[in-house]
Amino acid sequence: MPLRLIPLPRPRREAGLCWTVPAPAGIGEGDDGLAPERSGLRLFEDGQEIGPGHARHDDIRTQGAGRFSHWGEQIYLSCATPGSRADRHRYTALVDPAAHSGRLAVLAAAAAVDPAGLDSEQRYAWGERLFETFVPDVKLPEWGRSFFHDAELIADYERFDTANYRSLDRKLVLREMLKLALRQPGELAECGVFRGASAYLAAKAIAEAPGERRLHLFDSFAGLSAPGATDGGFWRAGALACGQAEVAANLGPYAGRAVFHPGWIPERFAEAADQRFCFLHLDVDLYQPTHDALEFFHPRMVPGAVILCDDYGFDTCPGARRAMDEFFAGRPEPVLHLPTGQGVVVLCPASLEQKHES
Ligand SMILES: C[S@@+](CC[C@H](N)C(=O)[O-])C[C@H]1O[C@@H](n2cnc3c(N)ncnc32)[C@H](O)[C@@H]1O
Repeated sequence: MPLRLIPLPRPRREAGLCWTVPAPAGIGEGDDGLAPERSGLRLFEDGQEIGPGHARHDDIRTQGAGRFSHWGEQIYLSCATPGSRADRHRYTALVDPAAHSGRLAVLAAAAAVDPAGLDSEQRYAWGERLFETFVPDVKLPEWGRSFFHDAELIADYERFDTANYRSLDRKLVLREMLKLALRQPGELAECGVFRGASAYLAAKAIAEAPGERRLHLFDSFAGLSAPGATDGGFWRAGALACGQAEVAANLGPYAGRAVFHPGWIPERFAEAADQRFCFLHLDVDLYQPTHDALEFFHPRMVPGAVILCDDYGFDTCPGARRAMDEFFAGRPEPVLHLPTGQGVVVLCPASLEQKHES
């Protein structure tokens, strides 16, 4: 889009040194509370550029000297010529679309903002602008979600990770799905344990619920197996290795609820062949162990049981998604793709009847 010069109508006095002009069509969006530096307007008085823009309206009224603001549908301006009135001058708007679209412009605008003067939605809006500058293909979700302040969830998360909070939302889903699964009888299982962050939440949930359920943990404790042809190029054999002793220590007060089955999936599944399960957490990132776990656990799950696949919606884990989709393609339950990237299945009686018939 080219630069455009737009002559403005004669200003009308607003208060003190401030004058107003309706923003002409085509000038672009004005600032508002959520985006107080959105407007890219530059203003000229008799051909001389004036400013600064994005000025506070009180400063325009009391200090004048060319300060202006493009706010909503109005331009609030002050005369830059000392001792003069704005209605004695010609004002021209210059709209420079590039000035506010580039990364540097967004960074410069953000640097001029004092977050202390913004409410939480305004701060989030600034975060969105900055985030979009670097990651335009990702759509940030809504601000103000209550789990951002869930102290217990965050404390449990921070036992394992303080570097970032990328899986906090998935941990919330896990915690809530455990509530659903624990309405049914049966044991719990996890395939893919790593350092035990999700196992901790599952063990805690059963420790706080009535009964003596156990959490069966299946992992090589030596990292991922070799990715196959359908697993894409992201993972390497041996990634995400964590030893069993470290996991047991990480489970802290809930370690007594865990039953460890160390080994390559499906080698140790036979040890749980006589159990019935109300919950399976699948988090092995790859096609083959996801497939093998579904084949083993699905016939052993009770009606109302939950299968939660942590990897389902991730570009890095195409094999895990494929294993889930293939397995449930001929079954009555849909795999629900959650915005967190997880895939969840709630087992229904029809599926279990079909399973017993086959
Ligand atoms: C993404 S991590 C699990 C993360 C964990 N659930 C959490 O919340 O922190 C994947 C785990 O799967 C295990 N794994 C991958 N392939 C496996 C296989 N074929 N057999 C056994 N374990 C495997 C790895 O050792 C690793 O611990």
